[in-house]
Amino acid sequence: MKKQRVGILFGLIFVAQLTVRCNGGVTSTYRRRLAEPVDMPVDADVFQVPPGYNAPQQVHITQGDYDGSAVIISWVTADEPGSNTVLYGTSNTKLDMSAEGNVTQYHYYNYTSGYIHHCTLEQLAFDTMYYYTVGVGGTNRTFYFKTPPLPNSDASYTFGLIGDFGQTYDSNSTLTHYKANPDAATLLFLGDFSYADGYPYHDNIRWDTWGRFIESSVAYQPWIWTVGNHEIDFAPELVFQKHKTN
Ligand SMILES: *[C@@H]1O[C@H](CO)[C@@H](O)[C@H](O)[C@H]1NC(C)=O
Ligand SMILES: *[C@@H]1O[C@H](CO)[C@@H](O)[C@H](O)[C@H]1NC(C)=O
Ligand SMILES: *[C@@H]1O[C@H](CO)[C@@H](O)[C@H](O)[C@H]1NC(C)=O
Ligand SMILES: *[C@@H]1O[C@H](CO)[C@@H](O)[C@H](O)[C@H]1NC(C)=O
Repeated sequence: MKKQRVGILFGLIFVAQLTVRCNGGVTSTYRRRLAEPVDMPVDADVFQVPPGYNAPQQVHITQGDYDGSAVIISWVTADEPGSNTVLYGTSNTKLDMSAEGNVTQYHYYNYTSGYIHHCTLEQLAFDTMYYYTVGVGGTNRTFYFKTPPLPNSDASYTFGLIGDFGQTYDSNSTLTHYKANPDAATLLFLGDFSYADGYPYHDNIRWDTWGRFIESSVAYQPWIWTVGNHEIDFAPELVFQKHKTN
């Protein structure tokens, strides 16, 4: 018992010394509110469906390979599958390259998803601005991103970190704060995305609102994901029903 306490004390002194040496301290004046967060309503401004028939929504990008020369573009169309093509190029007036993606759809309880598209852009140049268009041949939307520098020990690159995000008024404040930082080039997402699992049947409409909410950042810079416990769509009722009917 006593030995353990001494161990803990030494541990604390060690941590305290580290803190002094690292000068970790406070790096931002931004503080998220401490009060119980409240979800924004489904018709909140930040959840609006973009205008136009079958307009691509929930546009998001992520890293497409290990060295930073590929990017995966994803988006959802609500009315019909539409085109899987992404047009892209290094000038916003000349998208002279194109890549072909795929489309998928899923069902969960009483929910049917939109048409979910994924398309990988490969062999991109490092440290270069690219413009891309989705919804080719219909209501189309254009975005841009910048590829990271060639990996080397002197390359400088700024990552953002967000986790436990949700879709509350506080999430909105956090996202606004994050987007105001001009340096953050890629976001590392630590898990617990939409908190749709807090709704009946994990109401997947709350994944769609969340996808539209974060688009204003993730359509322009890769978010690299890891999942948390709120991404487990455990549905014992479905398993039970299956056994019962068998
Ligand atoms: C979310 O934040 C943005 C930027 O501050 C603001 O324009 C918008 O009205 C906010 N939406 C809600 C539902 O609070
Ligand atoms: C599915 O059912 C739940 C629970 O009754 C309801 O809250 C939700 O709105 C329904 N979703 C759809 C897409 O009908
Ligand atoms: C769809 O495209 C994505 C991105 O290019 C790829 O990772 C995935 O394997 C493709 N899926 C199918 C079923 O081809
Ligand atoms: C995008 O939409 C505009 C406006 O309708 C249209 O003029 C243009 O041809 C479309 N571009 C593509 C690539 O579909």
